[in-house]
Amino acid sequence: MQPTRRNFATLSGAAALGLGARGASSAAPPAPVNPRDYCRFPDTFLWGCATASYQVEGAAEEDGRKPSVWDTFSHQPGKVAKGQTGDVSVDQYHRFPQDIQLMKSLGVKAYRFSIAWPRVFPDGFGQPNEKGIAFYDRLVDALLAAGIEPYATLFHWDLPQALEDKFGGWQSRETSKYFAEYAGYAAGRLSDRVSHFFTINEFSCFTDLGYAYGVFAPGLKLPPKQRNQVRHHAVLGHGMALQAIRASAHRPVQAGLAENATICVPVIETEPHIAAARRAMRQVNAPFLTAVLEGKYMDEYLAEEGANAPEFTPEDMRLIGGRLDFVGINCYAPAYFRAADNGQGFAPVPNPPSYPHMASPWLFIGPQILYWGPRHLKEIWNVNNVLITENGCSADDKVAADGHIYDTDRVMYLRNHFVAAHRAVTEGWPLTGYFLWSLVDNFEWADGYTKRFGIYYVNYETLERTPKLSADYYKEVIARRSVV
Ligand code: FCB
Repeated sequence: MQPTRRNFATLSGAAALGLGARGASSAAPPAPVNPRDYCRFPDTFLWGCATASYQVEGAAEEDGRKPSVWDTFSHQPGKVAKGQTGDVSVDQYHRFPQDIQLMKSLGVKAYRFSIAWPRVFPDGFGQPNEKGIAFYDRLVDALLAAGIEPYATLFHWDLPQALEDKFGGWQSRETSKYFAEYAGYAAGRLSDRVSHFFTINEFSCFTDLGYAYGVFAPGLKLPPKQRNQVRHHAVLGHGMALQAIRASAHRPVQAGLAENATICVPVIETEPHIAAARRAMRQVNAPFLTAVLEGKYMDEYLAEEGANAPEFTPEDMRLIGGRLDFVGINCYAPAYFRAADNGQGFAPVPNPPSYPHMASPWLFIGPQILYWGPRHLKEIWNVNNVLITENGCSADDKVAADGHIYDTDRVMYLRNHFVAAHRAVTEGWPLTGYFLWSLVDNFEWADGYTKRFGIYYVNYETLERTPKLSADYYKEVIARRSVV
């Protein structure tokens, strides 16, 4: 979750209105465009929604689940806004049949959810908890019955607290190893029905934010040497899990990850700036995405970290660079780069204070990320299957007097991102699907319930779900397969 930035609004104005340099003239009116043909996506394009276990499930102590680091962290005073926790959240553990109906009415064809490791292995390893995995059996069966494809993430930050207590969590490679064991077990149990697995969601959020900045669980502030080792164990866990998933699956499944790579956007689309953004993309993502896609830490990263560089073996790197069936990227905010005569050939361009953002202060608006993400992945690493595994925004949603939630700002955000995604598809970059974050409002980590990302509004007193304008909008986009 990088507070990255991007400028977008100024380019569209006059051109979009059809007012060329000569202004509105007496030229013949443009031929009418059938709205159905405007920004049309291929029929095969996958439209989905995303959530994560700790953010939506609740039922924190049910059916043998033991605490995760997020339970411990959120129960510590001052860590989460208003002292809120995921104890109940939006109760998807019990209300999933209803949430599946919401998805059905949207017309989505895929649901990206995450499996709570502490439900399946309450102590992190050892004896699996039958009742825990049984919940995901029920969820998967209900999704399939509704014609919705399950996309399962194995780790979305809810590490069993037992592993934190015993080994210091991701500070130890024991955790990477136990993650792979759990991943293999889950794939063994679900792969008869689940065809798509994500190993890990967003490396930097649980490593850097959790172990170095202390703002996410487990809330540690380790020095760079230890932080870099935590990062290494995270990518190693991913690599080991890839192998375990494929070894345990009952049939060939697709495996990948969901990474919040920093998407480097050229300040202007000229060849020098584009080349600079490409170079920046490899380098700013060196500890995670670049390592995973190249099976190697960049020399620049190792040199920059010097004595603090992570310790690793060639075998580690071979696992980390394991084959991926797809690359998922979570895209929220842009990072602008320009060409520079400074040795490395690029320089970041920070956003000016007036740069627009959504309700979360880090969520700067820059729809071109949905174009540049897939394009960089293809141009730099020859990735042939890219999924947008998260995109969406927080907004200050209010229930109007008529009971509706008119989140025109979220619709604006989504519409502009869909246009950029469409451009990627049209130009032939390998973007094959999109998961909107999020289906319902939920526990937004350290922001608790104060930031709403859902396209369904949740009344946190009654847990009732109400479609926002953005839900109606997404439904329309999916039905027409085009940006409306
Ligand atoms: C991403 C997380 C997801 C959610 C969104 C808003 O970084 O993966 O869980 O919190 O941000």
